[in-house]
Formats: sequence, C-alpha cells, structure tokens
Amino acid sequence: METCKTPAELRSHVKWLRKQGLSIAFVPTMGYLHAGHMELVHRAAQVADRVIVSIFVNPTQFGDPRDLETYPRDVVHDLAVLKAADVEAVFLPAAEDIYPEGSETIVETMRLATILHGEVREGHFRGVATVVAKLFNIVQPEYALFGEKDYQQLQVIRQMVRDLHIPLEIIGCPTVREPDGLALSSRNVRLSPEDRTAALVLNRSLCHAEALVARGATVEQIVAEVTAMIAAEPRATLRAVDVTEAVTLRPVSGKPNGPIAIMISAEFGGVLLIDQREATP
Ligand code: PAF
Repeated sequence: METCKTPAELRSHVKWLRKQGLSIAFVPTMGYLHAGHMELVHRAAQVADRVIVSIFVNPTQFGDPRDLETYPRDVVHDLAVLKAADVEAVFLPAAEDIYPEGSETIVETMRLATILHGEVREGHFRGVATVVAKLFNIVQPEYALFGEKDYQQLQVIRQMVRDLHIPLEIIGCPTVREPDGLALSSRNVRLSPEDRTAALVLNRSLCHAEALVARGATVEQIVAEVTAMIAAEPRATLRAVDVTEAVTLRPVSGKPNGPIAIMISAEFGGVLLIDQREATP
C-alpha cells in the first residue's frame, strides 16, 4: 500500500495506475476508521480496479476549534486496517498541502449548504464541499463513495458534482449500525457508557418515524412524535428534527406523497450525533 503525503506524490501514483488502464474508486475520510468506513472501502473495491482512501481532518468544516482539537485520530490503526483491506494508496496530506498559504477559493452549494444542519453549523458544508472538490481534483477517480448517515452532506456533494461537471459517479452507501442500532460514527468513542445507551433513542425514534410514514401520518405528526421521544430522554439535547423531501431536502408538509428524509441531530454529553432515515409512504 502506497502512502502519499502530498498532492504531487498522489498524482504521480495515480498517473502510474492510469498508464496500466486501471480505474479508481475513492473514499474520502477524516480517519479513525470504523466498520462504516470499511464498508465503503469494500464497496469501492467492487466497483473499480483500485481503491484510494484519504485521511484528512479538514479544519474548514469545524466551527468549534475544540471539536476539531478533540476529533479522534489514530493513523497507525487506520493504515493497518486499510492495508489489510488491500487498499492501493492512502492520501495523508497536511493542512498546508490542501490549503496552501494564500488560498482563497471556496465551493458552496448556496441553498443546500445553508439549510437544516447547515443553519445550525454555519459554514460546515462550505468546508466539506471545498475540501471534497480539492480531493476530487487531486485524485480524479471514476467513483467516490460516501455514507448515507451524513445525508445532507451526500446531497451537497451530489449537487456540487452536478453543478461543477465533475466527471465522476457518487455512490451513497447505507448506514452501518451496531447490533443495538447505534449508527457507527468516529464520535461514538467520546460517549460515556450512559450517553451511548441514551443515544439509542436516535435509531428508536427513526424506526418509529418510519412506522408513522407507513401508517400515513403527516409530517407535523412525525416531527412532534420524534421530538417528544427525544425530549423524553434526559441525557439528550435535541438540536434538530427535520423532515424534508428526499434528495432535494425541500420542505414538505401534510401527508407526504413521495420519498422523504427524516434527519435528527442531538447532543449526548456534549457529543453531537446525527442519524437519518429515508422513508416512502
Ligand atoms: O464525512 C467525512 O468524513 C468528511 O466530511 C469528508 C467527506 C471526508 C470531508 O472532510
């Protein structure tokens, strides 16, 4: 497995792969890899000849410097699991490689980045779109894979790829869960055992929301019942419950007549978790 630290090193490795006519699937990550990331890596290996993974804790998508500082990191472990998964190359840039002195270009999906989760975390999706666009330009893969758990992020990236005519295919992959239903996230490690148990309310309330959709409930009922379930968990601080049209994330009301997305964000002991479900009435 090749470890490339600079864009130039990565590009030269990609050139060598291209000379052999090999296709590339790319999995961008911020490291601290778990089974959810590895599922993306395995799926990537099914769609292309070679898999490239990036590990970069992107400073521009963190509003709170403490959140950036405390974001979990374990590069030694990450490299070991990626090697075992037969990954072709890992891109491990430093912040100065991605944002060299004097950088001033940003990428922003004007509507999608500023609604819902983007309203709560101002600038977050601008940071994500900017770094992902840079990574796509460096790696130039045929495919890029993202988890559906970060649902709004996935839609932001799909929109950016369409708008900027970036020649690659985005593949969204289902959320991987612990046996008790907790969505895998690098942040879970920061949960106390009590908060981890409390966080199960996210998946429970999403299952309930899905059942409500199947029973023909209105969007207002879904929001009210999910909000009440999370409010009943004393260790949870609800940040948002959003029910929107799937993919476009446009507002819906009344009885939905097409696929909807239900997105929740809540804090448990100061750790912000998100989870989501797509449901069709
Ligand atoms: O989902 C993530 O881990 C990050 O937001 C991403 C897509 C790697 C961009 O930094």
